[in-house]
Amino acid sequence: MVLSLAPLWIILLTLSQCTAATTLNETCTNASGFVPYDFCMVTLRSNPHSRHANTTTLAFISLNLAIINATSTKAKIDTLLHNAREPELKNGLQACDIVYSNAIMDLKSTGDFLLSSQFETAKALVSAASTAGNECGDALRHAEVASVPRRFLRKENGDFGLLTLLFLGVINPLL
Ligand SMILES: *[C@@H]1O[C@H](CO)[C@@H](O)[C@H](O)[C@H]1NC(C)=O
Ligand SMILES: *[C@@H]1O[C@H](CO)[C@@H](O)[C@H](O)[C@H]1NC(C)=O
Ligand SMILES: *[C@@H]1O[C@H](CO)[C@@H](O)[C@H](O)[C@H]1NC(C)=O
Ligand SMILES: *[C@@H]1O[C@H](CO)[C@@H](O)[C@H](O)[C@H]1NC(C)=O
Repeated sequence: MVLSLAPLWIILLTLSQCTAATTLNETCTNASGFVPYDFCMVTLRSNPHSRHANTTTLAFISLNLAIINATSTKAKIDTLLHNAREPELKNGLQACDIVYSNAIMDLKSTGDFLLSSQFETAKALVSAASTAGNECGDALRHAEVASVPRRFLRKENGDFGLLTLLFLGVINPLL
């Protein structure tokens, strides 16, 4: 009995893995209006669950990556702030600290809306959060302190923008 069922399970398993791989590829193809296809694939594949994930789970994976990224950037900002001497630089970093804190709060509540399939609200919250990198960059540029290197937090701000765009690209077909 068990033996005779085995082929069916193999077929079902193969089928579901095939569907999942298609979902990932299709998701990144669909999201290519938001982020480059390769960035989407590499980023989502960094979580092993993405291979077997449906669209909602892929949205959660990208959301978590954005939260981890923003949390790590905020920690970096706090360290820089602790060591900053010039008032202009402190002001700039304080602005960065606030926008990233707000972004993290928005992203954390986005999870609740995803769970209840309120994709429009999830989109609005992540769109609001997505500006944190640009706002932080602007605040630092306005600090105009010689000790602020031109590339200060530029990679972090850019990465965060891409991760929030990735989320928006993943949920776009659900809207
Ligand atoms: C991914 O999707 C694209 C566009 O639909 C298709 O051309 C490509 O063959 C697919 N790749 C894989 C690995 O399924
Ligand atoms: C990709 O977009 C098409 C067209 O909007 C949609 O039918 C399909 O469900 C989307 N696929 C995924 C995995 O998001
Ligand atoms: C997506 O997958 C998750 C986890 O396997 C599951 O809980 C959820 O019901 C699925 N959602 C849809 C729309 O199929
Ligand atoms: C933030 O995201 C970027 C782009 O995916 C990645 O290269 C980087 O390692 C991430 N950093 C952290 C601390 O997660």
